[in-house]
Amino acid sequence: MQFFIDTANLSQIKEAYELGILDGVTTNPSLMAKEGIKGAEAITKHYMDICKIANGPVSAEVIATDFDGIIAEGKVLAALDKNIVVKVPMIKDGIKAIKWFTDNGIQTNCTLVFSAGQAILAAKAGATYVSPFIGRIDDSSWDGVNLIEQIAHIYRLQGFQTKILAASIRNALHIVRCAEVGADVCTCPLDSILGLLKHPLTDIGLAKFLEDAKSMK
Ligand code: G3P
Repeated sequence: MQFFIDTANLSQIKEAYELGILDGVTTNPSLMAKEGIKGAEAITKHYMDICKIANGPVSAEVIATDFDGIIAEGKVLAALDKNIVVKVPMIKDGIKAIKWFTDNGIQTNCTLVFSAGQAILAAKAGATYVSPFIGRIDDSSWDGVNLIEQIAHIYRLQGFQTKILAASIRNALHIVRCAEVGADVCTCPLDSILGLLKHPLTDIGLAKFLEDAKSMK
């Protein structure tokens, strides 16, 4: 399973890359706005700054919701860097646009996916990635990981090539459960990635080793 970081914060992206286990980055308009990025020029510069750090796919989301607008924005984004993946919402014109991007060699990430039916449509359109938002599903009292498992089952049975990118990850357990049920990628906030490091027995064991090591001096 690949690890992407889900942020537009440059220092967090750097920190995650320095761990040596990161494969890519995903952003969305909310994450870009959180960094105070404003205006077309600043948005372009920020994506290019992310691409300079990231040595892998970087999802950049379109704002347009009509076919022509999505295509125009997606072409501009894709031209910024070979690693840009155009992120397109799960709407009718979005599916049409994903098919167009697929036919024209542009990678896509179909976002805001909350059902297996939507994931089938994204795969039929040839999306490179499909992004089910598992944390938001949990928030509405459903089981987000179950959706990842269902999509993984369908994709394998049907031979769909679209990669399942588990998004809206809220904690380290989400990452482990997504790995168990066959997600291809988890895109996570830095805290959830670092949460994988934690176990109290590791801390207790290390403290004891360091204490005992003092007697060896
Ligand atoms: O990649 C989509 C993700 O950022 C959404 O996460 O936490 O806003 O539900 P969240």
